[in-house]
Order: sequence, then C-alpha cells, then structure tokens
Amino acid sequence: MVDRSFGDPSLAALYDSLHPWGPGDDFCHGYVMGAESVLDVGCGTGRLLGRARAEGHRGRLTGLDPAAAMLVRARRREPRVEWVLGDLRSQLWDGEFDLVVMTGHVFQLLLGDEEVRDALKAVRGALGYRGRFVFETRNPTAREWETWTPDRVREVTGPDGGTVRVWRETEEPAGDRVTFTETFVGRRLHEVSRSTLRFVDPGTLSGLLAEAGLGVVERYGDWRRGPCTPTGPEIITVAAPV
Ligand SMILES: C[S@@+](CC[C@H](N)C(=O)[O-])C[C@H]1O[C@@H](n2cnc3c(N)ncnc32)[C@H](O)[C@@H]1O
Repeated sequence: MVDRSFGDPSLAALYDSLHPWGPGDDFCHGYVMGAESVLDVGCGTGRLLGRARAEGHRGRLTGLDPAAAMLVRARRREPRVEWVLGDLRSQLWDGEFDLVVMTGHVFQLLLGDEEVRDALKAVRGALGYRGRFVFETRNPTAREWETWTPDRVREVTGPDGGTVRVWRETEEPAGDRVTFTETFVGRRLHEVSRSTLRFVDPGTLSGLLAEAGLGVVERYGDWRRGPCTPTGPEIITVAAPV
C-alpha cells in the first residue's frame, strides 16, 4: 500500500509543485547522463528520467514505482521511457543496469530490515559488474522531522488554478521511525496522508549494503559533496558491487 500522497491522483497532481527539481536531482542527473542503462526505483512522476530522455539520453531508461497515480504522470511527461508499475519485489532484473538510483528519499520508505534487505538484494541483482547504486537518506542526527510542524504552511497552485495549502504534523519518533501526517486543503480538496519514514544511521546503512554484496565507494553529507557530519542534512551514498 503506497502513501495517499502518492496513490491519490489529486495529490499526485500536486507532487511536482511541492517538490520542484533540486540539487539532489542535479547530482543524480550527472550519473544518469553518464550511464548507458538506468533503473530509477521510486521514480514518482518521472522527472529524472524524463529530463534525461529530453536532453538526448539514448540508452535504456526504466522507471519503477508502485503508485499508479504517479506513473500516469510519468507516462504523460515522457512516453519514450519504460515505466513499470511495482516495486523491487515484483520485478526481476539480472545484471542489466549500469546505474540504479533512488531519489527523493525513497529509501526511507523501506521500513523493516527484511524490506531493506530484499530491496538491496534486488538492486545488487539488477546491477552489472561495474554498476553503481546512488541514493540518499536523511541524516537521523540532523533531526529534520522537528521542522515538520503545522505552522510551516506551504501554498502551491493546484491543477484547477486554485491555491492548495499543505502542512505536516509529526508524531513522537519510535526508534528510527518517524510518522507524520500531511494535510492538503484547497477549494475542493481536503485530504490527509499519513506516512512513516525510517532514519537509518550510516553504520547500519553500510552493514545492510555489505550484506547485499554492495560496498560504499563514495559518501557525502550534502549535495555539494561535503563530508558526512552529525549536523549535515543527508547521507548520500554511491555503492558498487563487491
Ligand atoms: C518522495 S517520492 C520520490 C519520487 C521521485 N524519486 C522524486 O525524487 O521526485 C517517493 C516515491 O516512492 C514510491 N514508493 C513508495 N514505496 C516504494 C517502494 N517500496 N519501492 C519503490 N518505490 C516506492 C512512491 O510511490 C513515490 O512515487
């Protein structure tokens, strides 16, 4: 079951306005343009691979996402990309990709160790011998969720031209998991989506990657390739088969 914010067509329609192209996309775009075949896991509305194709990428571009409402938007954006409905448990790829990416903190939607192990095993299986896996997860010690408070209201323009107000409210963290609601209110819209994210520390992350046969080859704490620090916002990992 995907979160309502991705699975509901009226909320999926707001995704790009709420999450415009950013430095994380620039970072991954460089890797995508340099790879012959790319699998984007949790591709959402397809902007990463869509832009790559639009800018002349001629190789295999495959986007995978379990939310049909997001994939509808991806297909509309760029039909010359292979868009696949599902997740890493529902597809089997065998050494076919030079690059696997997970952008927009998709990795944090994998909650249990088993789910993470299965996903990383599938990523490893999908990668060719010289492949790379690029993904990011928010740094738990930066505690970004503490800024997800109802007083921080964002306003975006909905597809009907009306204003939609969006805010988050966070529950007390439980271990390494943080649950929050996202409320969307517009002229004819009132929806609440509830999500849980896992905040994994770098050591646990490296251990889970190693179990799957993946080694960390580069790690950064921000999109300018700065080092990982306790207050840095991200844990950005480039991993490779070992
Ligand atoms: C925050 S969005 C990121 C979308 C896109 N990568 C981006 O950066 O704009 C998270 C996406 O992950 C998808 N998703 C949720 N659970 C997933 C899973 N287990 N495997 C792959 N994708 C998943 C959602 O449907 C949603 O489209």
